[in-house]
Amino acid sequence: MIGNDVVDLAQADTREGAQHPGFDRRVFDADERAAISADPEPRRRRWMFWAAKEAAYKALRRGDPRFVFAPRALRVALAEGGCGRVDTPAGSSLAVRVRVEDDAVSALAMAPDTPLEAVSEHVLSIGSTPGLPVDRDTLRAAFGRALGREAVSRGHTDAAVLERRGRIPSLRVGGHRFPVSISHHGRLARAAVLWQPGDPSRPRGVQ
Ligand SMILES: CC(C)(COP(=O)(O)OP(=O)(O)OC[C@H]1O[C@@H](n2cnc3c(N)ncnc32)[C@H](O)[C@@H]1OP(=O)(O)O)[C@@H](O)C(=O)NCCC(=O)NCCS
Repeated sequence: MIGNDVVDLAQADTREGAQHPGFDRRVFDADERAAISADPEPRRRRWMFWAAKEAAYKALRRGDPRFVFAPRALRVALAEGGCGRVDTPAGSSLAVRVRVEDDAVSALAMAPDTPLEAVSEHVLSIGSTPGLPVDRDTLRAAFGRALGREAVSRGHTDAAVLERRGRIPSLRVGGHRFPVSISHHGRLARAAVLWQPGDPSRPRGVQ
């Protein structure tokens, strides 16, 4: 399982005060709110937590189509450097890695035993105008080409096709199906691929 999310901090909807009143209380639990308040850069910390929750949601939803997004119940704990975990209400955990580069927050969530070298990421920059609308079909087609090139470089000889089940993407290469997650916000678009065929049907828990 894999999920990713990006947040473009240049977008107006990420500014302090741009959210609905009560947003933090609705989305973050008491520990997360305390960590946001204590952070010298609370805005950045808020969106790091948010991106981790969205990435975890996408990964969990892939494993269980009935999984409902209740952001406060997905509890994020991040160490220095942005590595950490997201705990689910069912008692399982996902590993998460959150990075901040310039104004870009990106999060990657996966089962805790996933080797990072089995995951690759592709980044597209949409141009420099914040808020510029982007056609999602065009974006998916561009990622499809990039992932196809990577499949070739990994020795696959069959044509690679970026497919969707509902909105959940995967890369079909011959008889293999590799989980893919795609995220776009503002100028940023990222795709993550887990180069391990198939998906477990449920997250594997850790204590
Ligand atoms: C699905 C969801 C996570 C997408 O996130 P987003 O920030 O709107 O958009 P992103 O660009 O990051 O992700 C979109 C991509 O996620 C993927 N995606 C969509 N639904 C998905 C799902 N159920 N599971 C996994 N991945 C999904 C698709 O690849 C989609 O790309 P597409 O638009 O080309 O089909 C989001 O719309 C959602 O439903 N969030 C939870 C709902 C919610 O309650 N949010 C507010 C809480 S206060």
